[in-house]
Amino acid sequence: MNLEELYLKRQSTRRYSDKAVADADLEKICRLGALAPSAKNSQPWKMFAINGEKAKKFAECVQMLGSNKWTSSCPAFIAIELNRSKFEEKIAEKFTFADFAGNDIGLLAAYITLAAEYLGLQTCILGIRKEEEIAAFLGEPEGSRFPLVIAAGYAAEGYEVRPKDRKPFDEVFRLIK
Ligand SMILES: Cc1cc2nc3c(=O)[nH]c(=O)nc-3n(C[C@H](O)[C@H](O)[C@H](O)COP(=O)(O)O)c2cc1C
Repeated sequence: MNLEELYLKRQSTRRYSDKAVADADLEKICRLGALAPSAKNSQPWKMFAINGEKAKKFAECVQMLGSNKWTSSCPAFIAIELNRSKFEEKIAEKFTFADFAGNDIGLLAAYITLAAEYLGLQTCILGIRKEEEIAAFLGEPEGSRFPLVIAAGYAAEGYEVRPKDRKPFDEVFRLIK
């Protein structure tokens, strides 16, 4: 699969087969994800891969007000913890308009989802999540931040690759020369 095909194939997958995900694949995806760039190379993240039986229970942490119910059929998750140093906290306070860590986490999620697709796994980035429950589930300290979770698994049979629904390109791009 070339890069363009990879970009077109990656989509938010919301129906999964019950095929198990190999622990080694989750680890590989996170290893590739960790190559993402970050402000000052701060890498303000920690990744937790949740697989198998534990994933069934974890799904409750990303279901809220009727959203993300479909995650109950999802065989694996990667929870991203925001792990900022004191220095980065200070910078964030000073330049609140520059949410470097937020950008970094978004880049990590992009790298993870594309790495997963490359390895034949589908994903969905989840912003709806219950951070306190995630922290308790993972045994992380109270107040830990989990800006994003990524659902991962193999798409259910017959789950088609959708045409991309994006703004007209000329609305979002200008060439200046
Ligand atoms: C930060 C972020 C949060 C998201 N949260 C959710 C979510 O909680 N549940 C969900 O089903 N999709 C979620 N999505 C997926 C988006 O709806 C999806 O990426 C968008 O509609 C484009 O579709 P595509 O990913 O299939 O190309 C999220 C995506 C991003 C980037």
